[in-house]
Amino acid sequence: MDFFLFFLWVLSALTIPYVDAKYDYGRDVRRALQKRQSAQPAITTGAPRVNGTIPLRKEIREFQGYHEQWSLYILALDWMQFTSQDDPYSWYRMAGIHAAPFVDYGGVQALPDGGLNGYCTHVSNLFPTWHRPYLAYFEQVMYNIVQFIASLYPAGPRQIQFQQAAQTFRMPYWDWAAMPPSNQSLLPYSVGGEPDIVADGPNGEQLIANPLFTFTFKPLDPSVFPEFPTRLYNLFANNGNYSTWSNEAWIPDTSNNSYDSIESLHDTIHLAAGGDSGHMAIIAYSAFDPIFFLHHANVDRIFAMWQVLHNDSWVEPMAAVEPTRTISYGDSQNSSTNLTPFFVRDGQFWTSDMVRDHQVFNYTYSEVASKNRSEVITAINKLYTDFSAATMSIDPGRRRHLRREGFMNSTKSGMGHNKRTKGAIWNKGGSNVPFVNRIIKAGRYRDWVANIVVNKHAMDASFKVYLFLGRIPDEISTWGSSPGLAGSLGIFAGHMAGSGKQRRLITGTIPLTSTLINRVYDEKLQSLDSADAEAYLRNNLEIRVVASNGTVVEPSQVDGLKISIVSSYVKAAKSNAELASWGRAASHFDLYAP
Ligand SMILES: *[C@@H]1O[C@H](CO)[C@@H](O)[C@H](O)[C@H]1NC(C)=O
Ligand SMILES: *[C@@H]1O[C@H](CO)[C@@H](O)[C@H](O)[C@H]1NC(C)=O
Ligand SMILES: *[C@@H]1O[C@H](CO)[C@@H](O)[C@H](O)[C@H]1NC(C)=O
Ligand SMILES: *[C@@H]1O[C@H](CO)[C@@H](O)[C@H](O)[C@H]1NC(C)=O
Ligand SMILES: *[C@@H]1O[C@H](CO)[C@@H](O)[C@H](O)[C@H]1NC(C)=O
Ligand SMILES: *[C@@H]1O[C@H](CO)[C@@H](O)[C@H](O)[C@H]1NC(C)=O
Ligand SMILES: *[C@@H]1O[C@H](CO)[C@@H](O)[C@H](O)[C@H]1NC(C)=O
Ligand SMILES: *[C@@H]1O[C@H](CO)[C@@H](O)[C@H](O)[C@H]1NC(C)=O
Ligand SMILES: *[C@@H]1O[C@H](CO)[C@@H](O)[C@H](O)[C@H]1NC(C)=O
Ligand SMILES: *[C@@H]1O[C@H](CO)[C@@H](O)[C@H](O)[C@H]1NC(C)=O
Repeated sequence: MDFFLFFLWVLSALTIPYVDAKYDYGRDVRRALQKRQSAQPAITTGAPRVNGTIPLRKEIREFQGYHEQWSLYILALDWMQFTSQDDPYSWYRMAGIHAAPFVDYGGVQALPDGGLNGYCTHVSNLFPTWHRPYLAYFEQVMYNIVQFIASLYPAGPRQIQFQQAAQTFRMPYWDWAAMPPSNQSLLPYSVGGEPDIVADGPNGEQLIANPLFTFTFKPLDPSVFPEFPTRLYNLFANNGNYSTWSNEAWIPDTSNNSYDSIESLHDTIHLAAGGDSGHMAIIAYSAFDPIFFLHHANVDRIFAMWQVLHNDSWVEPMAAVEPTRTISYGDSQNSSTNLTPFFVRDGQFWTSDMVRDHQVFNYTYSEVASKNRSEVITAINKLYTDFSAATMSIDPGRRRHLRREGFMNSTKSGMGHNKRTKGAIWNKGGSNVPFVNRIIKAGRYRDWVANIVVNKHAMDASFKVYLFLGRIPDEISTWGSSPGLAGSLGIFAGHMAGSGKQRRLITGTIPLTSTLINRVYDEKLQSLDSADAEAYLRNNLEIRVVASNGTVVEPSQVDGLKISIVSSYVKAAKSNAELASWGRAASHFDLYAP
């Protein structure tokens, strides 16, 4: 497809039909910015510090409360999305660094056989580190646009206010694992809710097409996705080895404890956010969706938090299993591999070693600003334990507001249960309730997980593996929120060309404990102990695989698929200052093996 048509297609899909609903500055201001922009794209610095201090990237809901920064952010997104595609600072070219439309950026040439790949590193130990300069570069370009737009406000107190706010501007992140405040949707309303938005710009308030709007992703009930926080908690507490934590590549003889990775969890979010055919569900186009950067800023924040907890674990050499624009299959990828196309200065690229401390790009997040381990642990316990048994017996009363807001319906003490969805939120005040005592015994509980291996490119497109522990509705589109669903794993793939299509075994997990606890609560299961739970799972667990075109595919048609049930004893946390600790995984049975 012609690039211009492609661009229009992407824009029309993202921003709803009326593409001319951009902000009207009342005069031609574009040229003035172009003069101020660097003539040398891809030199990556991040944004400057402010009087020596490092500004925070904020969660989008909080960020929205900062009127000036929020307005400038919306205007800068609008600006980038309506910048001509031949401009290296356009949304089109910036998003294109990731993958489609597969063109060189910053003069960094593709390998002879790499022209149909993006620069991004997937199924790779460089997955978290490559995205760090990518985001910093995006942030720096956006920061420059923000400064420029702030300078356009008519001279006076308003201009001063906007210019001051612009100085500490950093891109926001979307925390998809945290329970949103009160009864808000998991996806912020500003992203999922409104196709138009009022922008308070230099030329007054105007209604413009919301540059964040994603029409494929409807507002969500967070309890539909209990596996997001559960998997995240487990990744913090139960995977301290960068090699297995960072990416989803299947490593032979890997411990049965470390099938999950930040990349695999990130994939599942892409699929949830992308719907079946949304851009977020297709690697090649995902960066065109504004939610991509909100999502990845959160992944980077999780990476920074994990680094504080596991400070001494770092990139170990690994042969590339997925080629990129500048890396061939089998090349060594290590901590000094170039993170292309991001230059430190002319001729020198950033490497993982150089971006190990995210503050090199002059941004940080509140949880890691002081790099204090116990502060990170406290934040994890505060944000990500709603569906985890790991902290079930501590912190009385903290969840009360959730019940009050109607997310769930507490019918018995000890637990709230949302009848509409599969999620359940533990009432942490309930440690003396008999129900909790059936889960946690002598400070320990058994954690159940489905370990999944599959060929990422089994279908040449993204697909989902669903596990059910209850009735499977006829209507596939309702599976995601079905009460019988134990969890799902999204495999993020697609549109790989040439050598990219090779067989690539990857791993991921679906946590089962939260659903099993529901069954104990419903008195369908006696306990989480080996004998009880294994028998229950053997008799009730069902697999379904759904292709991106919405059809069900037989597991035998999915190359490389293997699903094994394992469990570990977990020592629950006794206070918010500690994380639960996992014992060795015991394997129980193969739910599916070819
Ligand atoms: C980031 O901060 C460092 C240390 O203060 C400084 O050397 C560097 O120039 C800053 N980056 C930018 C883009 O200003
Ligand atoms: C940084 O310091 C300058 C000079 O003291 C001051 O004018 C400016 O407001 C400060 N910026 C911020 C964001 O505090
Ligand atoms: C919570 O949800 C109810 C019902 O959907 C709605 O009426 C109410 O305004 C919401 N509250 C907040 C704070 O969003
Ligand atoms: C981390 O895991 C990888 C892959 O299993 C292994 O090769 C490596 O030795 C581990 N690193 C450490 C420090 O244990
Ligand atoms: C690290 O990777 C680069 C290629 O990215 C390679 O040239 C170099 O030899 C590797 N170093 C080690 C120690 O493996
Ligand atoms: C790891 O710890 C060292 C020493 O405590 C500290 O200097 C460094 O900044 C830490 N690194 C990260 C990424 O937090
Ligand atoms: C880390 O934070 C905790 C809790 O705020 C505090 O008690 C402790 O002194 C801090 N540690 C360091 C090294 O600053
Ligand atoms: C909560 O559940 C009880 C018992 O099933 C029911 O009577 C009540 O109407 C429910 N409340 C809400 C708000 O759904
Ligand atoms: C849907 O996708 C699957 C898997 O790629 C394929 O086997 C099937 O033929 C497709 N069905 C339709 C109707 O396109
Ligand atoms: C992991 O689980 C599988 C069964 O799925 C088993 O064959 C294998 O021995 C286990 N590996 C370890 C290291 O325990």
